[in-house]
Amino acid sequence: MLKKTQFIKDLKEKDFVESPFLIKFCSTSIGKNGKPFMNLILMDKSGEVEARIWDDVPNYVGLAVKDSIVWVDGRCQSYQGRRQIVISRLQILREEEFDLKDYLAAGTLDADALYLQLVEFVKGMTDPYYKALAEAVLCEDSEIVGKLKRAPAAKSVHHAYTTGLLEHMVSISGILNLLANHYGKILDRDLLLLGGFFHDIGKIWELSYDRVTDYTTEGKLVGHLVMGVELVDRKIRELEAQTGRLPGPFPVEKKLLVKHLVLAHHGSLEFGSPKEPHCLEALIVHKVDDLDSKVNSISKFIEADLNPGRWTALHRNMERFFYKPDWALRDSPINGSENKV
Ligand SMILES: [Fe+2]
Ligand SMILES: [Fe+2]
Repeated sequence: MLKKTQFIKDLKEKDFVESPFLIKFCSTSIGKNGKPFMNLILMDKSGEVEARIWDDVPNYVGLAVKDSIVWVDGRCQSYQGRRQIVISRLQILREEEFDLKDYLAAGTLDADALYLQLVEFVKGMTDPYYKALAEAVLCEDSEIVGKLKRAPAAKSVHHAYTTGLLEHMVSISGILNLLANHYGKILDRDLLLLGGFFHDIGKIWELSYDRVTDYTTEGKLVGHLVMGVELVDRKIRELEAQTGRLPGPFPVEKKLLVKHLVLAHHGSLEFGSPKEPHCLEALIVHKVDDLDSKVNSISKFIEADLNPGRWTALHRNMERFFYKPDWALRDSPINGSENKV
């Protein structure tokens, strides 16, 4: 096993690079001089960096492919304000030569601890139908539990790391629980919690995450909202088939409300929801989902920013610069200078 000691977050301009990386993206293009070159994105658990291969490109076309872990010799340079590795040599590593954990971004929270928090929310539910549905999905289905402990919540936008989906579910469930306390009897706490648990659960099949996170064929063709509704349907059918498991047939309106919370959580047709929120719980799940994903994505953006000083580079999705609080000030890997002002 090759011990990985050089990580992307620490790379500075002019550093020699001698380290393995996971290939996230790779394409071959023809340069202005008519010669082919390769454009790559390399990743490890600390981040991502662009890379180029200018020489001997035909030799590397079959080797440098997405999901491969490769040894890279090269030099880090700054190109248009971003770090870029110019690769002089690249070699495929065998399975026994690396530990995959070094290459996949991970959250800071422990999967088992997060899962226990999720189970505590389930235990606190009181509606026998909603609780049985939550238990069937989150406590009794080992395939789902196994995937939940690993799945990211997205390819890139928010919680885009191992166990990110579970972190997002637990975070949202905590906020929903607070809102149920705050607003009292106008809200159905158990229904809100099911919205927190199930709104994105289809992502465990929508995405593949054994190596580089990507969409599965089912994810591309069906998507996590419909997959979540299909799961709810299937689990309710299974519960109804178990003698004595439910006090009676699963009430039709309860089933429709759970499905509605899943279908409406993106808030509008424009963002992929076939239904806009039509009950308070659906509206709240949508708003809290949006809040939690933005808090995560903006905080990660600020944390990863390399600009010196108090302001980040432009956040393209949000079309604004963000102010960096003290916790985000650090030496820039590009220029090695002190960021504090
Ligand atoms: Fe979603
Ligand atoms: Fe979500």
